[in-house]
Amino acid sequence: MLSKKIEEALNKQVTIEAESSQVYLAMASWAENLGFEGVSQFMYAHSDEEREHMLKLIKFINERGGHAKVSQLAAPPTEFGSFKDMFQTLFDHEVMVSKSINDLVDISLQEKDYATHNFLQWYVSEQIEEEALARNILDKINLIGDDKSGFYLFDNDIKQLIVNPEPPQI
Ligand code: FEO
Repeated sequence: MLSKKIEEALNKQVTIEAESSQVYLAMASWAENLGFEGVSQFMYAHSDEEREHMLKLIKFINERGGHAKVSQLAAPPTEFGSFKDMFQTLFDHEVMVSKSINDLVDISLQEKDYATHNFLQWYVSEQIEEEALARNILDKINLIGDDKSGFYLFDNDIKQLIVNPEPPQI
């Protein structure tokens, strides 16, 4: 059974994952409008992944006797400046998500909720991968600089970084 404190903290994370999905969906649409197929596919897939992160939390909260809440979400931006700005925003966003997961891990230890602590380890590993991926992409963009043909190749290359979201499981 979840304590009220853990239930609230997990529900806050449900909102963060849902908002992440919305932000990446907005990025996908922005890139698609500019004709960058690879980047938009990457962002659509990333948005789906965040929805899976959200669903996994919802299932866990409900299975542990809590009530997962679906709340109102903040509207994401519609413009993202340049690719560099957009991927910097993505990286900063993931750093914020990692901090939130770490705070959750901390709360689970304070509450001596070892089942939740164990559940959260999946998110801890996932955040390491997501931050590394975003950093990797930013490094590539910095190498390209202002080279237009470089962006064409980048748009093609990024398709290889698309990962299929795992089905939610507990
Ligand atoms: Fe679900 Fe990208 O954090």
